[in-house]
Amino acid sequence: MKKALALFLAAVMALSLTACGGASSSTPAADSTSTPSDSTAAPTTGDVANKDKPLVWFNRQPSNSSTGELDMTALNFNEDTYYVGFDANQGAELQGTMILDYITAHIDEIDRNGDGIIGYVLAIGDIGHNDSIARTRGVRAALGTAVEKDGVIDSAPVGTNADGNASAVQDGTLEINGKTYIVRELASQEMKNSAGATWDAATAGNAIGTWAASFGDQIDIVASNNDGMGMSMFNAWSNANKVPTFGYDANADAVAAIAEGYGGTISQHADVQAYLTLRVLRNALDGVDIDTGIGTEDDAGNVLSDEVYYYNADERSYYALNVAVTAENYEDFMDSTKVYEPVSAQLDETAHPTKSVWLNIYNAADNFLSATYQPLLQNYDDLLNLKVEYIGGDGQTEGNITNRLSNPSQYDAFAINMVKTDNAASYTGLLSQ
Ligand code: BGC
Ligand code: CA
Repeated sequence: MKKALALFLAAVMALSLTACGGASSSTPAADSTSTPSDSTAAPTTGDVANKDKPLVWFNRQPSNSSTGELDMTALNFNEDTYYVGFDANQGAELQGTMILDYITAHIDEIDRNGDGIIGYVLAIGDIGHNDSIARTRGVRAALGTAVEKDGVIDSAPVGTNADGNASAVQDGTLEINGKTYIVRELASQEMKNSAGATWDAATAGNAIGTWAASFGDQIDIVASNNDGMGMSMFNAWSNANKVPTFGYDANADAVAAIAEGYGGTISQHADVQAYLTLRVLRNALDGVDIDTGIGTEDDAGNVLSDEVYYYNADERSYYALNVAVTAENYEDFMDSTKVYEPVSAQLDETAHPTKSVWLNIYNAADNFLSATYQPLLQNYDDLLNLKVEYIGGDGQTEGNITNRLSNPSQYDAFAINMVKTDNAASYTGLLSQ
């Protein structure tokens, strides 16, 4: 098992190019909310060109959806451009290990039909999303079902794999207490609805019904690339059938469900990510060192430790670190929208005057982004004196979102969550006009 994990780590490293950093100039105060007639509005952003305004990509890293290669043009759009996300490989390894640890600890009862095969099904979020790919690889690496293709673990869905002959996976073997078990990925599928939205919870809820109908008590574990889909499967089937289900995100409903048998989840430290998303904009607008209030304590006492994030300058990216949330520690994670205490101090309004930010969520129906990330952003925007206009997309088309960025001149900075990681130019094109 250790060997498989090491292989996984070696095989999944992202590609990168070099870039350089820089600070920016600030702009006159402005204000904007979803109500354009807000009485405090002073919608003038002076003479900074839109293409020179601070820009942060978050949650969906500009990258090639087939190869995972970072889109350095988008990440270097201007000198105040960054990405904020989390360490996908570290989190994926944690998720795989969490499931393996659970199997080991429950080996006496895990094999529901007693045939010596531990069967699992896997809900895949988006086959072109690097975080989703990493999680699929992490589960397969830990359970010994991974197969290499072109030097990396194959992350393709298998559809169904009743007899263990699918080419994207292999049957794994686990030796526990002197007994050998086979581990089989019985089924996996990208959870995309007919309109094209990915990570679709409702699709996962339907899929588990279909899978349960054909595999029944061959299914011993349900794994999911996120909690939205995981909880949908838990509610539709696994809770009633007492089948441990594992997700990712540590959304509040999933954490609470651990008390009822949800197997576990991973916190991607959304409380740190939401802070970083707005903080890099704040710093760029203030014209201060980008590390202010991040690695370096700010004038209000805000600072992050390197236990919760790191910055990769070549990739212009901030990555939060992940933590496993299981029956042992879930009570500490019940409130998923609480600001992270070390960065919860209010900035002084005189030194950090109110600025306006345009921010979009790729899909207003995405459980993680709408139930966890956006509420956190809304807690931090006040602390950082940012007036943020939140735009919720339909998860299907970039146009649905870009149509609502018709007047970028009204804003001081932008925070973007693309529908598809390849599509950065749809946004930078608008800002360059
Ligand atoms: C989250 C998913 C979410 C996706 C959207 C991931 O980081 O784990 O829950 O659907 O981002 O891009
Ligand atoms: Ca079995």
